[in-house]
This record gives sequence, C-alpha cells and structure tokens, in this order.
Amino acid sequence: MTEFIAIDPRTVERNPSLTRAGLVLRNGGLVAFPTETVYGLGGNALDPSAVRRIFAVKGRPADNPLILHCATVREVERLVRELPPVARRLAARFWPGPLTMVLWRRPEVPAVVSAGLPTVAVRIPAHPVALALIESAGVPIAAPSANTSGKPSPTAAEHVLADLDGSIEMIIDAGPTAVGLESTVLDLTAPIPRLLRPGGVTLEDLRRILGRTGVETARAESERPASPGMKYRHYAPQAPMTVFVGEAAALYELFSAELKRAAAEGKRLAILAHSDIAGGLDRLGLGLVLDLGPRGQEEIAAQRLFTLLRACDAEKVDGILAESGRNEGLGRAVNNRLLKAASGRVIKVGEVVHCSAD
Ligand code: TXA
Ligand code: MG
Repeated sequence: MTEFIAIDPRTVERNPSLTRAGLVLRNGGLVAFPTETVYGLGGNALDPSAVRRIFAVKGRPADNPLILHCATVREVERLVRELPPVARRLAARFWPGPLTMVLWRRPEVPAVVSAGLPTVAVRIPAHPVALALIESAGVPIAAPSANTSGKPSPTAAEHVLADLDGSIEMIIDAGPTAVGLESTVLDLTAPIPRLLRPGGVTLEDLRRILGRTGVETARAESERPASPGMKYRHYAPQAPMTVFVGEAAALYELFSAELKRAAAEGKRLAILAHSDIAGGLDRLGLGLVLDLGPRGQEEIAAQRLFTLLRACDAEKVDGILAESGRNEGLGRAVNNRLLKAASGRVIKVGEVVHCSAD
C-alpha cells in the first residue's frame, strides 16, 4: 500500500507526517517527494538495499547513477572528497536550487548510488518540503525523478501515483513543481566544468559565475557518454513526434495543413505550440492542440511540457508535432527535452531558398 499525503509547503515546521516520512526513509523505505524541479523518488543514500530498491522500482538500468539530495553544504561535504573553490562559488549562488554538481565520491558513499563511478552527483533542492524531509530523515537522500523509466519526469504527485502506486511506501503531494524540468547537471571533475544536462539553472546563469569559457558544453558524438543517463533513450511518447523550427506564421500554416490532412485520413494529431498560434489551431477542432504558453516565456513551456507529453499518451494520438522555443535561457532545457522526446527528429520550416535560374 502506498500512503498518499498532501502537505501545504507553508506548514512544514514539525509536521508530523514529515517526521514519519523521515523515519520511513531512515528505515530503508521509499518516499516520493516534491522538489522545485520535478518529484523525486527518495531512499536513504547510505543504505545500499534502499538504493537498489530505487533502481528496481523504476526499472532503471543499474549503470545510470543517482543524485544525492542534502539540506546543507556541510552534509554535501561529507559525501565528496573535496568541495573545490569553484563548487563553493556555485553553491553560494545556486543552492538551494536546480543545480546538480558531479564531484569525487568519498568511499563512505555506497558505490551502487553512483553505478560504480568514482564520482557522485549532489544537490540541495529549493523546496521547503524536500528540505524538511531530508532534515527529518537525518541522512542524504538518493532520488532520481519519480517516474518509471521511459516516462516523462513527474511534475505533479498524480504523475507519481500513476507510475508507482503500490510499489513505494509514501507519496508526498505539495502541488505541481515550479520549474517543471530537471536540474542542470554540471561535472566539476573535468578540467573545465562540463554541462552534462541543461536544466533549471541556465547556461547564461553558469557563465555569469564561471565566465564565457568556464563551461564546456560541446559533446562529440564519438565521445563516450559524459553522463551515463545520456546514452539511454529518454522518454519517447507512444506516438511518433517531430519538432519544428520556424516562424510562427509558417508553422501555423504547416500545422493547420497537417491537422486537416490527418483528419481526412481518420487520424488525430497532437500539436504542441505557443499560445499565439495554439488558439487558432484549436478553433479548427481537428486534433489535440496543447498550449506551451506565450512565445518567449520558456519558463511556462518548462512547467507545462511533461504534463502535455503525458496527455499525448493518455489521448492515444497518432502523431505529435511540436514547436521548438528559443534556444536561450531555460529554452535550451525545453528544446533538449523536446528533442529527446522526438528522438532527434527536427524539421526547419519556411526558410527562403535562393537558387539560380541557370
Ligand atoms: O531535478 C532533478 O535533478 C531531479 C530531482 C528529483 O532532483 N532528479 C533527477 O534525477 O532528474 P535523474 O536520476 O532522473 O537524473 C539524474 C541525471 C542522470 O542523467 C544521471 O546519469 C546523471 O544525473 N548523473 C548522476 N550521477 C552522475 C555522476 N556521478 N556522473 C555523471 N552523471 C551523473
Ligand atoms: Mg529521470
């Protein structure tokens, strides 16, 4: 039986449910909890059997390491060999917050947490419920996103319930998450800090602290995966998905033509588009039109994306056409998740092609 408890984030002080959830964690149980990014599936990071259960429950490959969640920098220091000055600067600026740092692991941290790697990923989440839970457990909490492997990360407790009901001890519901996408993963064991996953802390944010040349982002295809998670096929919706890049007017024309064509063939498409064109497309009444929010407001697209992708599966659409956003700020992380969901299928639309007549 999975116990489902709702907690108002404003009442975490000495909340008896959180005290109990902390005890469940300390005793080897699994508790799903909210963070500012997505819901996490927590277990005692220092208890190898709890950690193995996290992998089992999610159906996660054993070579994909977990992030450890702490409430204070002091606790982080007990997990890593050292916190170099650059990590301290980043911590001072971004913790608590959606930045995960990969550092050298201390031998006291069970190797299973890091899938045997000599490193460990750590972060301090910016959510009062998460922080109170970690404090009440009194141990670092290993927590991947609380979805079953192959599903989008959960941004609401209902998503966790849909994936994990019956297989974990508790789900703590504190409403939808603020950021909606996972944390940024930054490898600080590399000579130059390497961005392994774009997320809630933007590249521009990192560059403001590390300088323009202080973050490495490029990844040659031939290179071994920088982050073990990157080699896995990420969430892909049941229906084939394609991402489109182009001007709003050109995309409106294309999407409406595709909706009409599909309808004529007795098929139903889902369109993920920004509000300015989503409204008009929806009025055609021909498919499932999902609104990513106002163009240029990537934080809204980030909040909505995983919920909208879950809706595409629930509605059993025949195909998904998505509009990409700006490739800056949080938009990089949104585009990264869109691309992964589309298995890399991207089409550029509406470019003027010049060709000579002779
Ligand atoms: O926002 C988040 O990061 C959420 C919340 C719950 O904190 N957690 C999350 O965890 O997204 P997960 O397990 O879904 O993603 C962790 C990512 C994976 O891509 C994994 O490969 C990478 O972090 N990672 C973990 N430990 C690593 C390590 N030692 N070296 C390189 N990459 C690591
Ligand atoms: Mg995940």
